[in-house]
Amino acid sequence: MTINYSQKYRPHLHFAPKKNWMNDPNGLVYFEGEYHLFFQYNPEDSIWGPMHWGHAVSKDMIKWTELDIALYPDELGNIFSGSAVVDWNNTTGFFPNKPGLVLIFTHHLDGSEEIPPKQSQSLAFSHDNGRTWTKYQGNPVLEHENKSDFRDPKVFWHKETDKWVMVLATGQTISIYSSQNLIDWKFESEFGDNIGVHDGVWECPDLFQLKVENSEETKWVLFVSVGDNPQFEAGSRTQYFIGSFDGSKFTADDESYNWLDFGKDNYAGVSFSDIPKEDGRRIYLGWMSNWQYANQVPTEGWRSQMTLPRELSLRKNGEIYKVIQKPVKELDSYFSYKENIQNVIGIGDGWKEYKINKSYLELVLNIERLNATRFGIILHHTEEHFTKITFDSTENTVVLDRKSSGVIDFSESFSYRQAVKIGNVNNIQLHVVIDSSSIELFVNEGEYALTSLIYPDKPCEYISIFAVDGKIKISNSHVSTPFKQEQAKCTV
Ligand code: FRU
Repeated sequence: MTINYSQKYRPHLHFAPKKNWMNDPNGLVYFEGEYHLFFQYNPEDSIWGPMHWGHAVSKDMIKWTELDIALYPDELGNIFSGSAVVDWNNTTGFFPNKPGLVLIFTHHLDGSEEIPPKQSQSLAFSHDNGRTWTKYQGNPVLEHENKSDFRDPKVFWHKETDKWVMVLATGQTISIYSSQNLIDWKFESEFGDNIGVHDGVWECPDLFQLKVENSEETKWVLFVSVGDNPQFEAGSRTQYFIGSFDGSKFTADDESYNWLDFGKDNYAGVSFSDIPKEDGRRIYLGWMSNWQYANQVPTEGWRSQMTLPRELSLRKNGEIYKVIQKPVKELDSYFSYKENIQNVIGIGDGWKEYKINKSYLELVLNIERLNATRFGIILHHTEEHFTKITFDSTENTVVLDRKSSGVIDFSESFSYRQAVKIGNVNNIQLHVVIDSSSIELFVNEGEYALTSLIYPDKPCEYISIFAVDGKIKISNSHVSTPFKQEQAKCTV
């Protein structure tokens, strides 16, 4: 049998480019029935290189159609990350006839020994739903005389003050600018001194309002990605702050920051612009990789994929607000077969196995810890390869161990510990989505996310549930697959 290596590890539920290199999601926007996903793209190679903007569209954010490259490098530089908006009221003057899309992106010019690199913000617009693009003649629209990290503009319309607002990554801070027309920008404020994690360069900010679950209260949330620094184990990851925004200044409620994801593979996440009011969701997706090893992952001819699109909300526990994330409901229609896992009581030290062997699957488990010290699930990708998810009651942690998950030898940091401390492990709701080369774990209705790449020969032959030193009780749980699986095989 010949294996088509370019297809090995290719995801079913996640966006990946047909060929060559991809990193950050860019310009996420909804317009006239289509979700647009642009992305950092090197069309020449499957490692990072001269950046372009690749482009894909979708009706449901799961199944994507890749279109032609949207933005090519020019004399102002390569095309780094940025965002997209719909200019509904022709504030730019680009749309005399009907509203259309504007891309706001960073032009990056490499430096030399004498000259530092130059980053500036530029515009491009489209009159045909993003199929062709015209760069604005007056580019760049925003420069800085001495900041060489000056990138990743995320723009939104701030209706309370009737203007566009841009959040921009400026080294170890986020700068906020405003504009009436996307062309002339005014500096408003800077956030980041003495707050948050500064282990790496700040990148890819996003600022938006979220509703608190079961309440009318809203808060502003600022996402800030933190670049890889070889001195630290975690690699690149995304932190967030909760606070208020008055159209000019973001003020964090307190000194605290949070991590958006406790797995290693969710970076540079930003949210969709212009999702219709009637829908009302705030949805984001991230780049499912880590700068520690992104250029080495063992795919052939293509590299990188995005996380699932996830709906965001806020949960308030006492005085603490937390960002909650759940895969969008559009995912449900990809799982037509559901098998209940019911009332498994008193597993003890034994094992319960469910045969799967499908190209992707979803698992929803409600687990009550009766007296087990440790418990969890093992995803057996093949007879040799497995990933273990363990809940530990002595530390109140969830740990995802991918040391035996398949190919791991391309980077030492790929097997570093992925864990999160949670309140307690006595009553756990667990939602796991497993695709050809990824596991996305959501604990307690989206309160903790843990996103992790894996490179096994097959996604999942069977799963087993285990409990150590005691019992657990499982109720109201199921495994979902794209079509019927063989009869569940119980081998207790
Ligand atoms: C984040 C990032 C951005 C930059 C882009 C370049 O992963 O470093 O700050 O715009 O990637 O590809």
